[in-house]
Amino acid sequence: VAVARALAARAKTLEDLREAILGFEHCPLKLGARNTVFCDGNPKARVMLIGEAPGKDEDAQGKPFVGRAGQLLDRMLAAVGLDRASPDPATAVYITNVMPWRPPGNREPETSEIAMMGPFLARHVELVDPDLIVLMGNTACAAALNARGITRLRGSWAQAFGRPAMPTLHPANLLRTPINKRLVWADLLELRAKLNAL
Ligand code: URA
Repeated sequence: VAVARALAARAKTLEDLREAILGFEHCPLKLGARNTVFCDGNPKARVMLIGEAPGKDEDAQGKPFVGRAGQLLDRMLAAVGLDRASPDPATAVYITNVMPWRPPGNREPETSEIAMMGPFLARHVELVDPDLIVLMGNTACAAALNARGITRLRGSWAQAFGRPAMPTLHPANLLRTPINKRLVWADLLELRAKLNAL
């Protein structure tokens, strides 16, 4: 973690940070991954979304949320007027994950792995400097809030990295349990309302 902290602190731009992560050899997940997945979307966006870790499709393409969960996420974002490809900061989102490497067999990242990459995530948020954060799932809450229990945490604003953060269910949860979509709709509408009020 000390090495990660020093490297992250030295990154002055997102490109520096990407290179620091690419060159970071202390996380065991890197050995099993095909690609480092750093980000997608608009770095000027007012909203930053944080997921868990790349899955199979993300690992293959080197981009976050491009598989089935990502397609569902894009459709739900579109319904509240947000789009990762938007050039307009007011309607754009920026997307990253707690872990830049796919865990073997899509297992959840371990606490030690989350802690090791923590300084990079904190610096990532600082450099993007979003007004609002969305924490998708337990791993994102563990990394950003040091808390778990997404069904309890979701739906109310917390503070993460010095700004308002909304915990919500991970889109992969919605693929398994579609009825939970109504909960995420409520969270996205709350996000929309807070954005409109900024
Ligand atoms: N799930 C995640 O948490 N992140 C991705 O990039 C894809 C699936």
